[in-house]
Amino acid sequence: VVVIHPCGLQDFRAVHQLVCDDFGHLISESSLRHWLCHETPGFHVARHHGRTVAFIHVQPRPADNALWLNLIAVNAAARGQGIARALLVFCERLAAEQGFGKVALQCLMDNAPAIAFYDQTDFKRVGESHYSAMNLSFFLYEKPVPARPANPRVVPGIRTDPAWRRKVHRLFYAAWIGWRSTLVELKKSGQG
Ligand SMILES: CC(C)(COP(=O)(O)OP(=O)(O)OC[C@H]1O[C@@H](n2cnc3c(N)ncnc32)[C@H](O)[C@@H]1OP(=O)(O)O)[C@@H](O)C(=O)NCCC(=O)NCCS
Repeated sequence: VVVIHPCGLQDFRAVHQLVCDDFGHLISESSLRHWLCHETPGFHVARHHGRTVAFIHVQPRPADNALWLNLIAVNAAARGQGIARALLVFCERLAAEQGFGKVALQCLMDNAPAIAFYDQTDFKRVGESHYSAMNLSFFLYEKPVPARPANPRVVPGIRTDPAWRRKVHRLFYAAWIGWRSTLVELKKSGQG
């Protein structure tokens, strides 16, 4: 049975490994460290028999009325079992609860498996974006989420951690993952 949980410190290594495996050429160590340590409440993981096999990272984009799906990855051995679909459904519910009107994301045009995956979902391709500096092209996808009656007690956006907790996250990150990285920065400088 696969269960979705908020990301805890014990998940950091597995999330880092998934990013190395699937986005190592795209994501820098400093970005991942910042997201994991400072945006921890935006991460959720899927655990199978206690083992972290997938994660999703979302970010609030109030100006676009959207919850942005920044990263999603499933361990290669756990693919094809509906885990990513379950994470998307979870993310849609989160967006509705937070008062956002849609979930949005971008996917590299040459990521054929991910495009095949999104084609199997209700997400609609709504445009393209190009980053000439990195020579990358993405398809943009969106899915509206059902409007919820306004709840004055819910502040749109993902909870943020207090400064002391972010410091604790950074200490654990340093201890468990270290500052040496297989991600993009060290590769570029030839040390990775
Ligand atoms: C894309 C990815 C997240 C899909 O995860 P997954 O858990 O295998 O996907 P699911 O099992 O939930 O699949 C949901 C649907 O998409 C389809 N699908 C998933 N991967 C597919 C593929 N490679 N080719 C064709 N269809 C695919 C499934 O058949 C399924 O359809 P169904 O429910 O009608 O049978 C996973 O391959 C992955 O982690 N890739 C590397 C990271 C990545 O590229 N992330 C996306 C960046 S935008």
